[in-house]
Amino acid sequence: MSAHMKQDEPVTDNRLDDMKQGVLGAPTRRIEGLLKVTGTAPYAAEYQVDDCLEGVVVTATIPKGEVTGIDRDSVTAMPGVVAVIDDPSLTARPAQGTAGEAPAQPARKVGYFGQPIAVVVAETFEQARDAAKHLGVTYRADENVPFDPEAVEAEAKDGATSQGDLAHAMKEAAASVDVTYRTEGHSSAAMEPHAAIAQWDGDTLTVHASLQMLNYNIAELADSLGLGEDKVRLVSRYVGGGFGSKLGISEETVAASVAAMELGRPVRVVMSRQQVLQCIMRRSETRQRFRLAAGEDGRLTGFGHAARVSNLPGESFAEPVLQSSEFLYAGENRELSLEVARIHRMTAGSVRAPGEAVGMPALECAMDVLAEKLAIDPVELRLRNIPDQHPASGLPFSSHKLAECLQQGAKAFGWESGARSPRHTREGEWWVGSGMASAARVHNVGEAKARVTLKADGTALVETDMTDIGTGTYTILAQMVGEMLGLPTDKVLVELGDTRHPRGPGSGGSWGASSIGSAAYVACNAIRETLAERAGVAEGDLDLKDGKVAGGAELTALLDGKDLVEEGHYEPGDVSEDYTVAGFGAFFATVRVNRFTGETRVQRMLGAFGFGRVLNPTTARSQCLGGMTWSIGAALTETLLFDPVDGHLVNCDLAEYHVPVNRDVPELDVLLVKERDGAASPIQAKGIGELGMCGGAGAIANAIYDACGARVFDFPMTPERVLAAMPD
Ligand code: MOS
Repeated sequence: MSAHMKQDEPVTDNRLDDMKQGVLGAPTRRIEGLLKVTGTAPYAAEYQVDDCLEGVVVTATIPKGEVTGIDRDSVTAMPGVVAVIDDPSLTARPAQGTAGEAPAQPARKVGYFGQPIAVVVAETFEQARDAAKHLGVTYRADENVPFDPEAVEAEAKDGATSQGDLAHAMKEAAASVDVTYRTEGHSSAAMEPHAAIAQWDGDTLTVHASLQMLNYNIAELADSLGLGEDKVRLVSRYVGGGFGSKLGISEETVAASVAAMELGRPVRVVMSRQQVLQCIMRRSETRQRFRLAAGEDGRLTGFGHAARVSNLPGESFAEPVLQSSEFLYAGENRELSLEVARIHRMTAGSVRAPGEAVGMPALECAMDVLAEKLAIDPVELRLRNIPDQHPASGLPFSSHKLAECLQQGAKAFGWESGARSPRHTREGEWWVGSGMASAARVHNVGEAKARVTLKADGTALVETDMTDIGTGTYTILAQMVGEMLGLPTDKVLVELGDTRHPRGPGSGGSWGASSIGSAAYVACNAIRETLAERAGVAEGDLDLKDGKVAGGAELTALLDGKDLVEEGHYEPGDVSEDYTVAGFGAFFATVRVNRFTGETRVQRMLGAFGFGRVLNPTTARSQCLGGMTWSIGAALTETLLFDPVDGHLVNCDLAEYHVPVNRDVPELDVLLVKERDGAASPIQAKGIGELGMCGGAGAIANAIYDACGARVFDFPMTPERVLAAMPD
């Protein structure tokens, strides 16, 4: 049986709060946690497959041009070498989410240094790696390749908006700010490298891979290989982080598949750390100009945000940095625009919180400059500029907790209100100061299907191709189903990450929990209807707890030895067109800046977030901690460095691409602000995976200014940049 729900109206009753089991919203530990910490949860490369060959990807050593020849003979006699494969599908990869369209990159063309061009397959990994290093490749290399996004013309991206007269508002304003920020490229830098094992049985291809969105990935892979989707099975049970880098398939998955089909043996391809950094998509660097105009009272009359990002020619993705600028603050005169520079670095794509991750910190720094000009408390400035409705579209907000996050966060942090005055505290050689920033991120939901089986023995099974990329999907699904069917979570088995199951929404854009949670909810509702009918009560009066029906009857007695199966199908409906739906928050940070070296240490950080119903405070808090940790990296250390001569990525390992380590991450506090948002999803939950880094780097930047008086306009705020901006 199946049950369908298309959400056209907000859900206003809070029935999930009144269910009796009490597992949804409880701080349940990850149900797969023990498997992970004991090393028994198999990741893609870890499946034990008999007779498996090893493939190593070969990457281009020119930034742009064409592969003119691959000299197989240069390696075929080497020990263990089985094949060199340079199938065009390796280089002609579909761009993210574009299965069925012409590939952005024509076969054998090289668009960036480090682009995969072939795969060498051997009996052992070492043999394959050795041969890959010795493979003779000839190129026709283009001259004068553009690498520098500032040195080329840029194309305007659709979606620029203009209302009123911003220039006039700037001229008339009591205070105005016109500032430009730069952010540098980021890597997703997931712990688990991209990996795939492909097996071809002559008819069907089975691929264990590390992917976020199987529902789309199966189409992308089938498309690349010219197979029907029914001939492909993708499995991603555990994913060691994705952060956007595994939203689409990448070359290791295609390479393993092509090789397995060609050679008739299973093939494993794992990217090296260097290859992950070099070939997998980057977050674009950005240049962002803000023009803010305000009256004496701090109310914005003008808001301008003009940004430049980059990507390869032909790629449609453009880092959507304007996303929160569109609705976060008021201001009747508005101008927003985005342009894309076409350069030859690796593909730019989604990296955790695409858009807001770099748009929000820059905006929040500009707001800090404005607060200073007006001599207004930075928290107060934000409170005064919360719009009543979407400033451009006029759509109402479904629910909006920015004010609560600012106020509750300030209180919990111990924020001293009032205008800022830098260099107020010095301890030895360290200036100490605090800063804050708002957080905002659009809420997304996606169509989702999940099959729930209430088994005759009184346990439940949930099946979907949804992935858990370290976010807690296994756990929140067990909680949702446990709550709805009156079962403790250990009576609910959750099976994810297999395209043989009903199609989920995938993990991306922070939509996972609210979308797949809603599909499970819809399925459970249908099961409850049946149970209620059998029990002779209305569904709303059916109280289930610990495998019993209220009054004491066993749940299994209603099942009569038979399973109850429902496939829940949730679809976002018109409700998303009637409301502006977003998660909000606030960050507060204290930093210490060394007066001699410019080194910044984050001493304390607090984030307060409102994102609808909290399905599990432990896993939700963990997402916030992750986002805040990324904020520290974006503020202080993370940057992709490209060679200006041939455009290659210089810092392609975790020793040189500096993500924050334990020593860089101080005490982080997370405050979850209570909210129910019935327009966001039937379960009244919004996304949280990305909100924690949508602005956080701005709070740290503003704290640097409060500490030492250095206004830095370039992220990351490295010691030399801070030192250069520090007043004498
Ligand atoms: Mo996310 S950057 O959509 O995984």
